[in-house]
Amino acid sequence: MSQLTGGLIDFSQNSLYFSALAIAFNPTFWNIVARQEYHNKTLTRLFNGNSLRACYALAITIFGLGLFRDALYERALRHQPFIPAYHHPYIAYVLFAIGNTLVLTSYYALGITGTFLGDYFGILMDEPVTGFPFNITGAPMYWGSTMSFLGTSLLYGRPAGVLLTTQVFLVYLGALQFEDPFTSQIYEKREREEQEGKKTK
Ligand SMILES: *[C@@H]1O[C@H](CO)[C@@H](O)[C@H](O)[C@H]1NC(C)=O
Repeated sequence: MSQLTGGLIDFSQNSLYFSALAIAFNPTFWNIVARQEYHNKTLTRLFNGNSLRACYALAITIFGLGLFRDALYERALRHQPFIPAYHHPYIAYVLFAIGNTLVLTSYYALGITGTFLGDYFGILMDEPVTGFPFNITGAPMYWGSTMSFLGTSLLYGRPAGVLLTTQVFLVYLGALQFEDPFTSQIYEKREREEQEGKKTK
């Protein structure tokens, strides 16, 4: 395998696989848990019927898993060969600036429950958020996060990071295929119910 990548990536490092596992695990975890909540109210039951508290608990869990995943990623990079051609601190800073702007402004626009799958708990936004950064991309948090991953690999000068960033990109792309239609369905359902509510009044 190392012949294939010309020694750019050290595939004998276990930390590389731990990082890849964490990257794949996180969106898988929150999608499974959120759907369980939507269909069976699993988390809300765990919090004695308090959906808001359950959603906050999930938010903290997802946030913590994210920090853990980031730590595993940095650890994996430190175990990898440094390749000068991949060392671009200035590009990295630009990516961090844009990436963090996208992530932080979408947190601000959505709030905690909007960011962390509140719709699956029945905590819906009053109306769709269409301002910045959602007028640039439908998934600013995912693209912002991907940019930060790429920035980190260029800051460290580790091509292994570019490979892991590609994985992050693909995992988010997969998550979007899964999440977007479901979220639209939740909001369409509310709209239908509101229409029916009006009719019976
Ligand atoms: C997005 O919205 C912001 C502020 O609401 C605005 O300044 C910006 O020009 C908009 N961008 C696009 C691409 O529409």
